[in-house]
Amino acid sequence: MKPLVISLFEEHPALPVILKEQGYALGEVMLRTFPDGETYLRFQSELKHRAVILVASLDSPNSKILPLILAAETARAFGASQVGLCAPYLAYMRQDKQFKSGESITSLYFAKLISKYFDWLVTVDPHLHRYHKLDEVYSISSCTVHATQKIAQWIKGNVKKPLLIGPDSESKQWVEQVSKVLNVPYLTLKKKRYAGDEVEVSSVPEMERYPNHTPVLLDDIISTAQTMIMVVQHLKKVQSEPIVCVGIHAVFSNGAYEALLQAGAALVVTTNTIKHMSNQIDVSSQLGEGMHRQIKQTQ
Ligand code: R5P
Repeated sequence: MKPLVISLFEEHPALPVILKEQGYALGEVMLRTFPDGETYLRFQSELKHRAVILVASLDSPNSKILPLILAAETARAFGASQVGLCAPYLAYMRQDKQFKSGESITSLYFAKLISKYFDWLVTVDPHLHRYHKLDEVYSISSCTVHATQKIAQWIKGNVKKPLLIGPDSESKQWVEQVSKVLNVPYLTLKKKRYAGDEVEVSSVPEMERYPNHTPVLLDDIISTAQTMIMVVQHLKKVQSEPIVCVGIHAVFSNGAYEALLQAGAALVVTTNTIKHMSNQIDVSSQLGEGMHRQIKQTQ
């Protein structure tokens, strides 16, 4: 029987391509909140002996995690042969160290929770900083697919003479990859984070070495956008080319997208891991291929 793909919350934008390219079936679920805030969940497709894949991007994760676990357990109770999670954006990867005494390393406990309820996981470019692989925290089989080829393709088709700029040391993994594919220069800056919405990024050095280049800021997550806003502000002081911002995951908390445009970004572009008006880079095929690998491996 065909694997059954179920979008748990709003329909994920990658779904149509995944269903078409992989030939999977679309499953139906009814998910409601009772007046007291509890979840009602009912699958409206036959799950017995089928691989069931729950698709949910985990931005705003706290309200999603309980319905997600209830859905995974229910799918198992109705006889799913395997229950996989496709989380195009995987939350809780950033707190990967205890910085202050008493602090929770939430990435560890979140990974433990997901690993308990799912057989496998597929995601796009998780925030790997102090961890090198998801296997260091997830005990289930995980598959990371990458957006870099699609980002490089987009930049090639849309930006003249790009100079890639990574706003912090973690972003080097993405800017370096994209710069190799496109054979264009890149720089990485240094960042200090003081609070969730308070960062300091070093100014951009030696811009005069790259006359007429279009600065392309590239990072994995844009959340408050403060990281990118700081770089845009530095750049605007020293050059006049339009500034392009590319993010993999369009988290955009509290008006961050508008604030980034307001700060002077000429264009803000993201992949479709999280549905947003800035989505211009489609990673659906990569997700579908990742799912296919995981289903086969688990059979
Ligand atoms: C973390 O270091 C990530 O790579 C991003 O740089 C970060 O999430 C961006 O956050 P914000 O948009 O809130 O500055």
